[in-house]
Amino acid sequence: MKHLLSIADLSVEEIHSILNLAEEMHDVQSRPVKKLPALRGRTVVNLFFEDSTRTRSSFELAAKWLSADAINVSAKGSSVSKGESMRDTLLTLDAMGVDAIVMRHAGSGAVRQAAGWVRASMINAGDGMHEHPTQALLDAHAIRRHLARNGLGTIDGKRVSITGDLIHSRVVRSNVLLLKKLGASVVLVAPPTLLPPGVETWGVDVSHELDPVLPDVDVAMMLRVQRERMLGGYFPSEREYIDAYGLTAGRLAKLKEGACIAHPGPMNRGLEISSAAADSAGSIVLDQVSSGVAVRMSVLYHLLAGEEQ
Ligand code: NCD
Repeated sequence: MKHLLSIADLSVEEIHSILNLAEEMHDVQSRPVKKLPALRGRTVVNLFFEDSTRTRSSFELAAKWLSADAINVSAKGSSVSKGESMRDTLLTLDAMGVDAIVMRHAGSGAVRQAAGWVRASMINAGDGMHEHPTQALLDAHAIRRHLARNGLGTIDGKRVSITGDLIHSRVVRSNVLLLKKLGASVVLVAPPTLLPPGVETWGVDVSHELDPVLPDVDVAMMLRVQRERMLGGYFPSEREYIDAYGLTAGRLAKLKEGACIAHPGPMNRGLEISSAAADSAGSIVLDQVSSGVAVRMSVLYHLLAGEEQ
């Protein structure tokens, strides 16, 4: 495996290999000394053209806990703000001899394009409204751990709802691909204005109502209303959005026993998800964050350590 650009490129065996190694990496996180020598001497650059908290910091921690050197370059404060092109920025970092570039960019397809220009391994940390493969992998990892903790089996055969601003979401695209590869069935819930074009070819169920969906799902994944990507009126008002699609305190009771609530963050508390839901016993929101470091350790190991062997 040279790059991680899309879930579509991964075989089921590769997905299991990444998730299984992430399980071992998870143990490192709970140790007082969080260091493995696996990637000593390797260099990872986080190149972020868009804002991020958890993705960037978890990639940085993942690299450091594997003993790689990690640096952060963000568009703000770099030569990008002096007008340098994306290609020149990438070629500059590549010329320094870095081993992996973790890149987030507003352009769908930008990271795959970058992979054609550089010698380093490219990791897609979110490209526009296209994909966010490590997010889907960490979601699957957190779901797997929730199921195992509660004696509920594996993802195979489970039902997952993904509700919210799906048209702008790279998380939904990666998750649908991954969950289907792992044998889950997916139901997307959104008003027609927030459904991605072509969704009928995705092999998922679609509902415009959340209430009838909730009792059937093992995982209720809520996605953020991405105001920064919205130019027009996608729904009449926040009040109406919450009434129809928010995971409110009242709706929690509709979930079946053992169902979990996921959200990739950042959350708009009180909009797509209530605090009652986000902080409930069934919420795996913070497990997703800790799985994020473990999964990114595993991904870096698969791309960089494998190359050496
Ligand atoms: C997501 C993203 O950036 O695509 N966040 C994340 O990586 N945890 C989702 C979002 O921004 O809503």
